[in-house]
Amino acid sequence: MSRILSGIQPSGELHIGNYLGAVKNWVELQKKYECIYFIADYHAITGSYEPADLRRRTRQMAVSLLASGLDPAKSTLFVQSMVPEHTELTWIFSSVTPLGELERQTQYKDKSQRQESVSAGLLMYPVLQAADVLLYRADLIPVGEDQVQHLELAREVARRWNAKFHSDFFPEPKPLLTATRRIMGLDGQAKMSKSLGNTIGLLESPEEVWAKLRPAMTDPARVRRTDPGTPEICNIYHLHKAFNDEATVEHVAVQCRTAGWGCLDCKKVLLEGMMRELTPIRERACELEARPGLVTDALAAGAAHAGEIARSTMATVRDTMGLR
Ligand code: TRP
Ligand code: SF4
Repeated sequence: MSRILSGIQPSGELHIGNYLGAVKNWVELQKKYECIYFIADYHAITGSYEPADLRRRTRQMAVSLLASGLDPAKSTLFVQSMVPEHTELTWIFSSVTPLGELERQTQYKDKSQRQESVSAGLLMYPVLQAADVLLYRADLIPVGEDQVQHLELAREVARRWNAKFHSDFFPEPKPLLTATRRIMGLDGQAKMSKSLGNTIGLLESPEEVWAKLRPAMTDPARVRRTDPGTPEICNIYHLHKAFNDEATVEHVAVQCRTAGWGCLDCKKVLLEGMMRELTPIRERACELEARPGLVTDALAAGAAHAGEIARSTMATVRDTMGLR
């Protein structure tokens, strides 16, 4: 059976962009594969941050993931720093990673340009990611388009390590691109992201979601209620596609083009569809908040299982490299 692995940054509560773009797919994959998922807290320390805030965001992410349907009975879920072998393998891989490749990574170039002081950790970020993947010798890595370059680097690290030590121990991991197109923020201008403040949280109440949907950008051609619109250019329409069935989506398109509905009518139907999917998730999250031991236990069990695989990989790696 193929082994799936992916990680997510500890950004706190999930928003519907992360959920539709990644986590919903992770939940599906549990049915068919052996899955290993983790919260990438070692990746979250390369810039400035508050320790208490990081711990809170990590915890909230764990709650969001479990509430979304990641099932500790089916998959392995843990926090990256609970398995310190990730960092040991990072150091080892740093010796087979060409510096030039790291300096060419798009994410590094973007982020380093925006900071006045750049840590070596920011440059090493993709090496840590290669270690995450190869530590478990995973085959398939569900990621978004923006992580493909990092994964290409992980493949190169695997090839170089294998070649240097005359081994075929590390398989080359393949990206598994998620079918969902990227979810735009409520402004309809940029990708949904916490830093832009254009998100809908996965655990928000219907009232909170409505307060955000109501003023959200639609087709600017619909100035008056009687002006027809073009659904394809409207972000609300794309959200309908994510939360409603095909027949409803088709109905929305017709009502928009013929000005049968106003945008508020359209948004009310969207709210209903969203809440059908999100209410059970919010309820599960409430249960988990009330019983924090469940979260702690799930993460501990996940880390114990991940740790076994990680220690076995590191034993082979050290042995092959003449360490100890
Ligand atoms: N860098 C990834 C992101 O920001 C998160 C991540 C860390 C990851 N390690 C990983 C994803 C390993 C896949 C595999 O989205
Ligand atoms: Fe967008 Fe719906 Fe308004 Fe059409 S009717 S512009 S799809 S909100």
